[in-house]
Amino acid sequence: MTTNFLDGRVIVAVGDITEQDTHAIVNAANSTLLGGGGVDDAIHGKGGRAIYDECLKIRQTVYPGGLPTGKAVITPGGDLKARFVIHTVGPVYGMNGGRDAELLADCYFNSLALAAEKNLRSVAFPSISTGAFHYPKHEAARISSRAINDFLDLDDIVSEVRLVFFSESDARMFLKHQNFIAGPKTA
Ligand code: APR
Repeated sequence: MTTNFLDGRVIVAVGDITEQDTHAIVNAANSTLLGGGGVDDAIHGKGGRAIYDECLKIRQTVYPGGLPTGKAVITPGGDLKARFVIHTVGPVYGMNGGRDAELLADCYFNSLALAAEKNLRSVAFPSISTGAFHYPKHEAARISSRAINDFLDLDDIVSEVRLVFFSESDARMFLKHQNFIAGPKTA
């Protein structure tokens, strides 16, 4: 099942983020950048040591104190189909002094801005923060779709944003609560 929005620039699908053949996939990382569970574990596990080594370099240079919530960095994709991994740290729900929505939106906007800066045309996202970081899926749907919509209004480099949900029910929840301006067209 796939559904698209914004004249096909956004595609909603069910699948495994590590299997996506977009130019970049986005990792739901934590501030250490050195791996964890869920998406993070899957990407590092399948992408291999090259990703970890590059993340370590970023920690030793640009972000010695860790990647702040909402920011994004890019590494090679290692053994993944995707050429690059964009690592972003989502907000832990309820732990950001009322800035959860702003920080979640930053994850999507900053990841897309980084992709455009590197001239990458296609980016796949997992559902940032809706797992171990406990962001309610219906709230995350509204925020992520708004942030993506706002970015795509300003950009003409990124031609495909693929939103990859790990289950049909997660995808349905997103479709129910998304806030894209143009209506859905289900293929
Ligand atoms: N492909 C696509 N989606 C996935 C996959 C996968 N392989 N694995 C998990 N998901 C989904 C989860 O079901 C959830 O909806 O991705 C969403 C994000 O879940 P998490 O990976 O737990 O990410 P997050 O909630 O942002 O928490 C990040 O968890 O894994 C650790 O190191 C990570 O500390 C960080 C924290």
